[in-house]
Amino acid sequence: LQSLGHISMVIVGGTGDLAKKYLWQGFFHLYATEVAKSYTFSFYGGGLVSAEKGTPLLFGILKGLTCPPELTAERCALVKDQFLRLSQYVQVKTSEDYGRLSQQIQQQLEQEGLAEAGRLFYMSIPAFAYADVAEKINSSCRPSAGAWLRVVLEKPFGHDLGSAQILATQLGAFLLEEEMYRIDHYLGKQVVSQILPFRKKNNKFLEPIWNKHHIERIEIVLKETLDCKGRIQFYDQYGVIRDILQNHLTEIMTLTMMNIPANLSNSKEILQNKLQVLSGLEQLDKSSVVIGQYQGYTAEVQEELNKTKDYFSLTPTFAGVVIFTSNPLYDGIPIFMTSGKMLDERVGYVRVLFKNNMFCIQDYNSVQCKPQQIIFYLGHGGLQYPAILVSKNLFKPALVNSGWKEVTERKDISILGLALSDYHIQTPAEPREAYYELISKVLHGRRHSFVSTENLMASWAFWTPLLDSLAHTFPRPYPGGKANSDLLNFHLHSRQVTFVSEALVNVIQQGQE
Ligand code: BG6
Repeated sequence: LQSLGHISMVIVGGTGDLAKKYLWQGFFHLYATEVAKSYTFSFYGGGLVSAEKGTPLLFGILKGLTCPPELTAERCALVKDQFLRLSQYVQVKTSEDYGRLSQQIQQQLEQEGLAEAGRLFYMSIPAFAYADVAEKINSSCRPSAGAWLRVVLEKPFGHDLGSAQILATQLGAFLLEEEMYRIDHYLGKQVVSQILPFRKKNNKFLEPIWNKHHIERIEIVLKETLDCKGRIQFYDQYGVIRDILQNHLTEIMTLTMMNIPANLSNSKEILQNKLQVLSGLEQLDKSSVVIGQYQGYTAEVQEELNKTKDYFSLTPTFAGVVIFTSNPLYDGIPIFMTSGKMLDERVGYVRVLFKNNMFCIQDYNSVQCKPQQIIFYLGHGGLQYPAILVSKNLFKPALVNSGWKEVTERKDISILGLALSDYHIQTPAEPREAYYELISKVLHGRRHSFVSTENLMASWAFWTPLLDSLAHTFPRPYPGGKANSDLLNFHLHSRQVTFVSEALVNVIQQGQE
């Protein structure tokens, strides 16, 4: 294959935690599988320390890389060796350092007679340093004419609407909108990235029922079992609503409710349709939320932030929210969003539950009354692997794409009220890490898998008034690791909305007065 050009990939913060845990692995898998066939590459781990100090740190990480499952051990050793030869540590502290890196890239292109396709900078550094690095890239390390520049940014993208706007303005002084790729790693999860394609592929069945006349409610859930130890510095300023609901769960909600675009690769249309969902959401207030904090969290804060024993943190580690939209297609459908740390199980999913017929109100257990539902299951939980589940009493879905397979699961468990044998189940044929997927999408310029400035602001505009109104509210304490049925089951297992809102009001009154 003829090379489509040369790509330089730089991780700024290339020896930090995120880079070590996910990014190098993602770069390596990408190199080892598809893109090495069409592009040539060089990889740079950028950091503040000298090359002398940084090089052993970087190679310590690279030596530990593991191969994608499709490579044989022999092939893997060869590819890894190549990857290591293409990688190096560079100091990137000053504008001069960025200038030197640019010269080095230029020289390599000339020596090897390569055409430049683009430069990718992955900012694996705290958000407060973004603008400074963007300024240096802009002034000293832009690619040659005709080649692209793409700068990948990690959340948090601000703390509220005001701070997000300031950050966006600062970045906008140095980067064009189409050069910014804000990552939400949930958009790289295999099931999340297939929500739209699944809806489109099965639209013949879904379109007549994907509306308020047929959907009873939508649940978007991410339950985690871990605590916040070791990252209180970050977490205590943000809390669960900023950490999970404002970004990961909001993105999933927009994919579930947006109009299906005519073309699934039309980034502009997709981002526009997502924006429409965000702009149609009804404003939240305190009566639509319950917040909690696991017992022991405040002790972690006291320890990690060196606070005295009488210090109490108001940061929520659990939130359950009921959202409504004014979109005439969906108004009246409650969208329940729930997430928390230190809960009884690790599981993430979107569940679209349809209304059953009238008989079900009398007899939930009769056969006709088994829930009719579609679940985008992110993995973990009872099923362990990512899958799309469609209850058999609804319809038989088409496979979302050729990289997926149907499975018959023999485990004797039920997922959200239905035995596994009552579902059509489809799952990705090969597991893929979210970071691999997203880095690949940056290379291919698929902007719709990232968060645009406009959509980010719309999301913050929705969440900020609620966050402000909760600023002085005591979260309800809950014991870690337990089912916490009062917090969690207030909506998830009840089948009627009135029931749900009453339960919600009770929880709020008990917990927050
Ligand atoms: C991160 C949050 O964005 O997502 C963490 O900061 C959370 O608090 C994590 O644990 C969950 O991601 P995943 O991929 O482990 O489900």
